[in-house]
This record gives sequence, C-alpha cells and structure tokens, in this order.
Amino acid sequence: MAEISGRLVLVAGELHDLSGPEPEWPGGRRTLFHPPGSSPLPRRADVDALIPLVSQTVGELELTGLPGLRVVANYGVGYDNIDLAAAERAAVVVTNTPDVLTDATADLAMTLVLAAARRLREGLDLARSGEWGGWHPTQLLGIGLGGRVLGILGAGRIGTATGRRAAAFGMDVVYWSRSRSAAIEAEAGGRRVESLGDLLSMADVVSVHLPFTPATRHLLDAPALASMKPGAILVNTARGSVVEQSALAAALASGRLAAAGLDVFENEPEIPAVLRSLPNCVVLPHLGSATREARQAMWDLAAANVRAVLSGESALTPVPAASD
Ligand code: DGY
Repeated sequence: MAEISGRLVLVAGELHDLSGPEPEWPGGRRTLFHPPGSSPLPRRADVDALIPLVSQTVGELELTGLPGLRVVANYGVGYDNIDLAAAERAAVVVTNTPDVLTDATADLAMTLVLAAARRLREGLDLARSGEWGGWHPTQLLGIGLGGRVLGILGAGRIGTATGRRAAAFGMDVVYWSRSRSAAIEAEAGGRRVESLGDLLSMADVVSVHLPFTPATRHLLDAPALASMKPGAILVNTARGSVVEQSALAAALASGRLAAAGLDVFENEPEIPAVLRSLPNCVVLPHLGSATREARQAMWDLAAANVRAVLSGESALTPVPAASD
C-alpha cells in the first residue's frame, strides 16, 4: 500500500464497498484501510480515528499503539471487542451503531425461530439428498408457534423488535431484563418475569438479546439449560459466549432441547463440529445485520460519529463510559 501522509482515519475492515474508495473527513484527513485478520493494527501516531469491525479487539495494546486517537467508532452495535476502561484512560470516545441494524437482526432472529421450530435444516438435507420418498403425514413434524411462549432475554431494541415479530405469529411474549421495558409491553404485549429461572421454566422458545459482559458470560450454562422446558428451542443472535456451547450441544444431542438456531459462537469464526453436525441445530455465520441496507447504514453512522468527534462536536451514538 502506498504510504499516506497527513492525519488519518484508520478503517480496520473491508469497508471499501460501503464507504467508497476515499471517504471525506474533516480537515482533509485521509483514510488508511487495514484489512482485518491480516496483521495486528498498525502502531502509528498520525491516526486520529479508528473504525474497527466487531471482530477486531481494541484493548490497551492497540490503544497505546495509536497515541493520537480521539475516537473509536465501532462498526456494530455490540462493543465487547473494545476495552472501555482503557479507552477512558486514553480519553478516547467510543461509539457504536444502534438502531440501524435492529430490524435486520430481529428478522434473522425470527428466521432462526422459524427454522428451528419447522426443522428447516433437516428438510433441506432430505430434499437435497435425492432420497425423499414423498409426502408423509408424520414426516419432520415441527412445532407450531401460535400460542407458544417466547422468552426474550434482554428487552433492548433488538429484543423488542423480535418480540413484535413473534407477536405477529401469535406467540405470547415474556421478557427478562434489568428494568421494565414500556416498548416491549406496548408493542409486543410482553410481560416481564422476575427472574431468569421463571423465564426459562415457562418459555417454549428462548431468544437471547443480551450484550456480552463478564456478568452474562455463560449465563445459559448447563444448569440453566437443564431448567428449560423439555423440548424447548434456543435462539441466539447476540453473542456466543452468553451460552455455554458444550452444554448446549449436550442438551441438543440428548433431545432435552428440541432445537437451536445460532448465529453467533464463542470463538468466532470457529463453529464447533458438534454444532455443525447436529441435525437439530441451525447454524449461520453471524449474519444478523447482513442486509445491504443495514450494513450501509452502519457505515454511514460510524463515519458520522468520526466526523462529529473530529469536528469537535459530540458523538451521535456514544456508548456508556466504563465508569458510568
Ligand atoms: C453487532 O453489530 O454487534 C453485530 O453482532 C454485528 O452485526
């Protein structure tokens, strides 16, 4: 890559198609594109802003390597890839991309609910095998959604939007969240339950919409999964580490849980072989926000956050500081 001089915005992802080859930044700053995964982030003092993908760790090491940094504009709504305390110490503003990917991600959560309930993976396998023997009254019977209870873990924007979709399919929505959500109650008829245990024991389908934090790591561990209704379904479009993957695989293999729909995994891009091979597990490669509209809007918002901070204005969508 030709050396670029002057102050820089470092784009640590293959975002050329969305950003255009030479995005405009305040003060005539230039763009330095750094493809992810190829090598560690460059260490240079002329970088004022960083736009990382959610797969890019931004910790003490990366921040000290970019001593001129003023803003990290994460290309995603989740920001567990960023060490907020280290960013605060370095006086770096951190932003994310809420709202613009809510519908895309909720659509995918609902896709996985339907795929798991209607045994999509087994149906596809059978149709593709060339060995389908014809229509049969008891072939690949799934679970009807009407009247079933959907338990939403985390009633933020995406959880609420998923609840709204499920309500349109006739599901009864309950939710567990730190605080009451007027939105999910008004838009999806959601009822708040007191504890995680209450939600797990009453839901036919559980959909995870919690951020990954030390407190949510393996929240759905073996005992939690064992407290779900026999034959229930688990869907996760949030972060893989909220679920203990090995315990989930065991619950699916034994038939204790009917099915799972997973878009996220503990150590991406690794998808454990057992989850890939279980017929009652639908796996996708982290596609929650993968619509043209959402991915473009995510770029536009990340870039707008960079422009605001570099122009001395407040960020549009700052994340809460570590000390908040
Ligand atoms: C996010 O935005 O956090 C998603 O996981 C990436 O689409």
